[in-house]
This record gives sequence, C-alpha cells and structure tokens, in this order.
Amino acid sequence: MKRLSYISKFSRSLTKREIENIGKVSQTNNSRSGITGVLLCCGGIFFQILEGEDECIDSLYSKILQDERHSQILCLKSELNVTQRQFPDWSMEVIVLDENHDILLQPIKILLQTLGESHAILASYTQSEVLQAIESGFNPLDLKPRYREKIIFFADIVSFTGLTEKLQVTEVVDLLNQFFTICTKAIVSHGGEVTKFIGDCVMAYFDGDRADDALQASLEILTELEILRNQADSYSPLRVLYIGIGLAKGNVLEGNIGSHIKKEYTVIGDAVNLAARMETMTRQLNRFLVFSDSVRLGLSDRWRPVRLGDFQAKGREEIVEVYSIDDVLTLQKSDFRKLKQEIKQHLELISCQQASQQPTLV
Ligand SMILES: Cc1cc2nc3c(=O)[nH]c(=O)nc-3n(C[C@H](O)[C@H](O)[C@H](O)COP(=O)(O)O)c2cc1C
Repeated sequence: MKRLSYISKFSRSLTKREIENIGKVSQTNNSRSGITGVLLCCGGIFFQILEGEDECIDSLYSKILQDERHSQILCLKSELNVTQRQFPDWSMEVIVLDENHDILLQPIKILLQTLGESHAILASYTQSEVLQAIESGFNPLDLKPRYREKIIFFADIVSFTGLTEKLQVTEVVDLLNQFFTICTKAIVSHGGEVTKFIGDCVMAYFDGDRADDALQASLEILTELEILRNQADSYSPLRVLYIGIGLAKGNVLEGNIGSHIKKEYTVIGDAVNLAARMETMTRQLNRFLVFSDSVRLGLSDRWRPVRLGDFQAKGREEIVEVYSIDDVLTLQKSDFRKLKQEIKQHLELISCQQASQQPTLV
C-alpha cells in the first residue's frame, strides 16, 4: 500500500457547503476503491493524507491535482510498502479546523500554515532531486552518488568585475537577478536543472540525451538577453549585459558532496571542468556560445554546427574540438577586446550621468 500526504491552497474562498461536498464525494468514491484518510482545512489550506493500494492512490491523486478548487499542491511525502493504515475507519474524514476555536488546536493551525510556507521556501533553494526525494519519502542524505551522462552548462557575464567596480551593489544585484531569472526559466523549461549560482556564473545540467534542449535553452537565453539590452534605458547597465555560454558532455558523478555540516547536491567530473573551460573560450573565439564535440554528436539534424577548430582548454592537456552554430545570437559583432571596451565606455557614461545628477554642494 501507499500513503501520500500533500498540502494545497484554496484557489478561491470555499463555502462550508463546498467543503462538505468534497467530503461526501470523497467518502463515496473512497469506500469503493478502498482508500482511507483525512482532510484537514485551515485558513485556506488543505492538508490531506490518503492511504490505499498504489494504483488507487495514483489515480485519485492525479484527479486531485486537476481539481480547480485548490492550487499550489505540494506533495509532502509518498510512502511505499505501507503495511498498516493509520485511518482504517475513515473513508475520508473532513476536519475544518477554522470552526474549532479550541486553543489546543491553535498550534496545529500554525503548524499547517508554516509547513506550506517553508516547503515553498525550500523549493526555491533546493535542487529538484532533493525535493523529489523528500516528496517520495526518502531522506535525500541517503541518496547514493551515481554516475550519469550529463550535458553541463556554464554561463557567465562578460566584464563582471568591471560592472561590480563601477555600479552600486543594488544595481549589480538587480542585473544578476535578471540574468539568473532568464537562465533559470529557459533551462527549467527545457528539462534542465540549475545546480548553482557562483558569483555571476550559472552552472546547470541536462540529461545526456538532451543536447537539442541544452542548445535551445542556450539560444533562448541569448535571445532574451538581446531583448533586455534593446529595451533597457540608455543609461542602464543592462544595455551591456553580455554573457558567454559553454556546453560539454560526459559521465559525471551526481550526488551529495560536502561535509556533515553543509552538503550540496551537485555533479562532479571532467565534463564539468571542460564546460567551465569552454565558457572561458567564448572570449577567445568571439562567440557567445561554444560546445564540445560530444555535445555536437548528440544534436539532431535541425542544427548546423560549425567547427571552430581544435583548441587546448586552459589547464588541460587534451585538445578539444570546439563547435558553435552560426546565428546572429552566437556571433559577436566585433572581437572580444572591442566588446570589453564598449562595456567599459558604457559604464563610464553611466558614472558621468550619475555624477551629474548628484546635488551640488554650495
Ligand atoms: C482538497 C481536495 C481533496 C479531495 N479528496 C478526494 C478524495 O479523497 N477522494 C475523491 O474521490 N475525490 C477527492 N477530491 C475530489 C476530486 O478532485 C474529484 O473532484 C472527484 O474525485 C471526482 O469524483 P467523480 O469522478 O465521482 O465526479 C478532492 C478534491 C479536493 C479539492
């Protein structure tokens, strides 16, 4: 048997009758399919525990996920191989805590609200693998490291040191947030996983067979940045927000790495180092996007990769074949030194403009 618990929010205010109705339908259906459990309602939050045969729980949960009466549904735990029911006599007991003003119930109400909030916070700080493990009832700390073929993605901002020197820290944070948002959206929507932000660098990975997705996500990032630059005010640093992207593929070790005090769920391996090196090569090759031969081999026919040559990546002995695609987005208009110069001049322009706006002391 399986036991599943989740938390969700009312999608609108629900009347007492509507909640009773959920209870009635649930009890009729659940008695038929041998499902038992409890549904708590409190302050616009549902907390439900469902227990029964695996297929019955899966099919009910997929119906519940589609139900328009609630949203932001977060599975808290899904336990397998359950041998004993916790609510054998309840085909679905609905308990509306809002109606009960007993002070003893107050901590439970607060607990439910806090649980929903902290789970949502955890979701934005944690790797989806870690979250999935928690939701499936595993302790993520027990996840064993495993070898996986991955496409590693590295992107970082051109002349970031110059930007941090010349801009206010709040402007730098704003710029980083815009860059990270664009990257995360594109990567996640193509099935990738953002591993970490390291200063101005984004590290992410895609499954080894998703070369098309990795490339498509990279191009979407470059497109979005172009739009952002064009739409930014004349004195905005966003006008010179350029990045380099490097992709490499290989076998990496995926899992928990760190000390017993602080752990990170990440990937380690040669492909990670190579992708980071590829990203730095974008400067030398005057391209905004470059990738390794191993990535090229996984691409479908819709792409026309261009071979830029054989290069020795910094700090590596082996020679690597480097590719890009010919696209207005990937080709730098001028060489990298000129681009850096353009960024520098723009930052000086911003500084002058900011200085002219300072009130003068008399
Ligand atoms: C918070 C919540 C909990 C629910 N729990 C159950 C349940 O335990 N069993 C059930 O059959 N339907 C439950 N439902 C209703 C289902 O989403 C769905 O509307 C219902 O199963 C459809 O039943 P029908 O096919 O008999 O019309 C729940 C809905 C909500 C919003």
